[in-house]
Amino acid sequence: MKKYNIALIKGDGIGPEIIDEAVKVLDAVAADEDFDFSYEELLMGGCAYDMTGDPLPKETIEGAFDSDAVLFGAIGGEKWDNLPREKRPESGLLRFRKELGVFANLRPAVVYDELINASSLKPEIVKGVDLMVVRELIGGIYFGEPKGREGDKAYNTMVYSKMEIERIAHVAFDIASKRGKRVLSVDKANVLDVSQLWREVVEEVAKEYPDVSLSHMYVDNAAMQLIRDPKQFDVILTGNIFGDILSDEASMLSGSIGLLPSASVGSKIGVYEPIHGSAPDIAGQGIANPIATIASASMMLRFALDENRAANRIDSAIKQALSEGYRTKDLADFDAKEICSTSEMGSIIANYAAKCKL
Ligand code: IPM
Ligand code: MG
Repeated sequence: MKKYNIALIKGDGIGPEIIDEAVKVLDAVAADEDFDFSYEELLMGGCAYDMTGDPLPKETIEGAFDSDAVLFGAIGGEKWDNLPREKRPESGLLRFRKELGVFANLRPAVVYDELINASSLKPEIVKGVDLMVVRELIGGIYFGEPKGREGDKAYNTMVYSKMEIERIAHVAFDIASKRGKRVLSVDKANVLDVSQLWREVVEEVAKEYPDVSLSHMYVDNAAMQLIRDPKQFDVILTGNIFGDILSDEASMLSGSIGLLPSASVGSKIGVYEPIHGSAPDIAGQGIANPIATIASASMMLRFALDENRAANRIDSAIKQALSEGYRTKDLADFDAKEICSTSEMGSIIANYAAKCKL
């Protein structure tokens, strides 16, 4: 029997609750597949700072490298907001991504037919939306030097090298060639030098993919087009900060940020995590939506472990739970037949996934 070693980083806020539900679903699926999981919990974020004085202890990096994949909840909270930047939970996450080398963040935004009324946009605008944001994750203005503060000024630098743009562009074109065969690269080339280079390099990479079309859009227009006509998009390729913003925007097409998973890949070990944050205001109340994390576990099965059938079983269990009308509180107003807690939702999906034979 194959045994996969999964590193669990529960983190802060609702992180522990949602990871527990994803584990429940993974175990339910593994019960009748030819593999099994062992889990190792690692510390990151505010809880790690509280226990060790460091939001990213070195054991966490080592543990991640010893695993087959990392399943991550969320980090951060007001409690740590006044710490110096390098002690803050977010710094732990950014360093973690950088240390692991996961330069490609894949953020699919899919609108479930069952939740068509949950979107803040009209049903006819969002029905059938199925797009993928490919966000560069370990470069750009998040990491560029120089950065800092001097007197009454503060500055950050948006910098990309040709190599960094090439490798993320390849990821986007590879994905597009297995989907709708369209890449839209988002930049601000009318203003930024770094975006001009981005455009040139993406054009070069595109030549290697003759069956994938490439177009470009400025980020301000892309933000507008995403809510005007989101169905026009297939794969959106963009840099770190634009991708951060556009992927939050794209998440609202689906009705709740509690639905969207992500995968951070590009190196030996991938990190699978919901795109939402730690929501400290609702932590511990059992009302968080675990679906984004459960869907992230499914992406982990697919991308990291190549267990496609198991991933399909989870995806169809999520759909089934939604079409039967089960809703967590965030979606309570949208065609709900029964409102359930975080752990009830996890159990319902685990049950459906266990029964689902594909
Ligand atoms: C995300 C988050 C992070 C980011 C924060 C928590 C540092 O917003 O994963 O999108 O900006 O990358
Ligand atoms: Mg974000």
